[in-house]
Amino acid sequence: MTTPVIPMRPSEETVKTLNLLVERIEANPGRLIDPKEMAEAGETIDVSNVLETLPDGLSQEDFVGILRLSMLTECATESYAAIFREGARVHDAPWLARFTDRTWVPDELSHASPFKAMLMSLGFSEAELDSEIADVQDARYDHCCGITPVELTAYGMIQEQLTDQWHGLVADLIKPVAPYAAHMANRVKARETQHLMWYREMTAILVAGKPDLLPLVADAILGFQMPGRQLLPELQGRALYWMPPLKADFTKVAKDLVRNFSEVAGSSRGSGELLTDVASRRGFSIGPIPIRMAKVILRQLGGLGYEVLGEAVRERVGLPVAWSNGNDEQGRRGFHWGLPGKIRSAARSQVAQRIDLRAVTGETTPRS
Ligand SMILES: [Fe+2]
Ligand SMILES: [Fe+2]
Repeated sequence: MTTPVIPMRPSEETVKTLNLLVERIEANPGRLIDPKEMAEAGETIDVSNVLETLPDGLSQEDFVGILRLSMLTECATESYAAIFREGARVHDAPWLARFTDRTWVPDELSHASPFKAMLMSLGFSEAELDSEIADVQDARYDHCCGITPVELTAYGMIQEQLTDQWHGLVADLIKPVAPYAAHMANRVKARETQHLMWYREMTAILVAGKPDLLPLVADAILGFQMPGRQLLPELQGRALYWMPPLKADFTKVAKDLVRNFSEVAGSSRGSGELLTDVASRRGFSIGPIPIRMAKVILRQLGGLGYEVLGEAVRERVGLPVAWSNGNDEQGRRGFHWGLPGKIRSAARSQVAQRIDLRAVTGETTPRS
């Protein structure tokens, strides 16, 4: 089988929209973190009391590991930025280079500081932490996924979502006895939310301009790995075991992933196509019948089959079935044409009940 050739180049109209978005972001980047503000706040970022209040399943060593993972993942900004710059250069996407250099990098460079301060409150010396940071910054980083702009922005979207969730878990853990430290972790979390929304919008604009790019989004979803898997394998490997005592809500993770994938795909039909592609390549079924057969049936049903499937996945995670990201003609026209509403909703619910969420999220969620 030959790989289909996908015309990568976005239209002039799409590039114009992306440039406008980058300009809009620069004009209103939101509230950045200034590391000096921690010194000036007059509040303590000391987390030593947390050591005495850890939940079952988390040792003091685990807590230190959690903070080290947070700090060290954040400090490797330049390694990730180099990949985005390279993709922007090779694929002639100055808008992405500009966003990376002027907005994303300066913002990210401030994110390690609260976690470094927390570790210092536990007795680690600044020199010791700086040396760990330098080791990670000097380590070789090979990116997991492709470097076309749409793969990079889709990767950025997933990575920001998972980092956002992680900082929220850390903030919740420390909040009862270290409220200021929790506040700073939540400040970092809020930046990641902002980044997630920007990358999601960029990806949606690229896909709206060229729907043929959806398989590349699927590639990014399938190939995705947290950068820590490579830069900090020991700590990143333990993160999965820390998630349950940190009270990670896997249903919410799945819901957020589906919401983001839907936004990027632009319509129920696009979501259905994207999620079928992802599920089949992961070897999962996403309905009551084997994926190969499902694909044949979906092809025969045409757009309608994918639409119902896209809606079923949203129903499965508790998202509203009717939605639109505003980029899609079909989405604007309405959601229930072509098949009587009752039959459609019954079919959708039938499928929804049998969807294994790992088809969508990979192994980040337990078996449902
Ligand atoms: Fe960050
Ligand atoms: Fe970020």
